[in-house]
Amino acid sequence: MTIFSSSRLCARFGLSTPIVLAPMALASGGALASACARAGALGLVGGGYGDLAWTQREYTLALQASHTNRIGCGFITWKLDEDASALDWVLDHAPEHRPRAVMLSFGDARRYAARIAASGAALICQIQRMEQAPQALEAGATAIVAQGAEAGGHGMNALNGRATMTFVPELADWLAAHSPDTLLLAAGGIADGRTLAAAMVLGADGALVGSRLWATAESLAPQGAKELALRTDGDGTARSAVFDILRRKNWPAPYDFRAIRNPLHRAWEERIEELRSDPAAAREAYDAGISAGDYTAAHATVGECVGLVHDCAGAADVVRAMGEGATAALDNPRLQH
Ligand SMILES: Cc1cc2nc3c(=O)[nH]c(=O)nc-3n(C[C@H](O)[C@H](O)[C@H](O)COP(=O)(O)O)c2cc1C
Repeated sequence: MTIFSSSRLCARFGLSTPIVLAPMALASGGALASACARAGALGLVGGGYGDLAWTQREYTLALQASHTNRIGCGFITWKLDEDASALDWVLDHAPEHRPRAVMLSFGDARRYAARIAASGAALICQIQRMEQAPQALEAGATAIVAQGAEAGGHGMNALNGRATMTFVPELADWLAAHSPDTLLLAAGGIADGRTLAAAMVLGADGALVGSRLWATAESLAPQGAKELALRTDGDGTARSAVFDILRRKNWPAPYDFRAIRNPLHRAWEERIEELRSDPAAAREAYDAGISAGDYTAAHATVGECVGLVHDCAGAADVVRAMGEGATAALDNPRLQH
């Protein structure tokens, strides 16, 4: 019996720890999703931009290795508008192999809601601002993820982004008034027991964890990127469009991307429009960095919580430590006033 026995998220998905692995494109593969699922979390495969072959390989691996039904998949919504074949493939499984949940982020989930609901999967919608919450409810979201701008990877830019610390309780209050059965997950900066406990104190039912689980043995992130992350503190990341331009990703405004602020990023971060209009030389430097595994040019995708990450442990150990740490933090008598 733990404090999480009363977690609505744990009850809904049969979890022992209220953690959902973020569906991180190219990092949350089958090995990481299944390790999280076996450890009692919900493991979402990072379907990302909807690459069908990658999704087929990694989702199949997740099913085979997890021996649980705590497996789901996530996609970037605006990219599905161009090609939804990977979503269709995931949903088209026999009922026992269908995803437990499908998470959609960055765009209007409503057009995919009916087919996800028909499959029996729960819909999880990740949002970045209060004004997006009604649309997530219209889509029939079982859970809404409140993503703060601290988060690694894509999110809202500096003008539009919210901090996890204020966004989660504001959305918790709004959901209590408008849709009390909808679950709330916090995302952005949750990387240890303290931050998981804090998310729950703020009113979340659990956390969507990206960067902390990116830095694990099972994550498909490149080894050099993980090593750089271990040497980087929380001052060392930044949001901008630099890496999206360098990677030829046509992300719609107002989304941008948080990663480690390396020398190539610093060279362009104050000249975004110049980079946009003439990216050739910078792309050459970036492509060479990717080929060589040189992270002075290549991107390493983590959020501000990288300063709380000191090892690349196995994912099960990370999930267990976060759960135990949160339990200890929430039991702390100094908090009982
Ligand atoms: C390497 C990486 C890749 C990500 N890719 C995706 C993605 O493909 N789809 C998505 O919805 N979110 C993606 N995210 C964002 C996560 O869903 C989540 O909001 C974020 O990781 C939470 O913040 P944290 O990194 O501080 O844990 C990514 C995050 C990281 C770190």
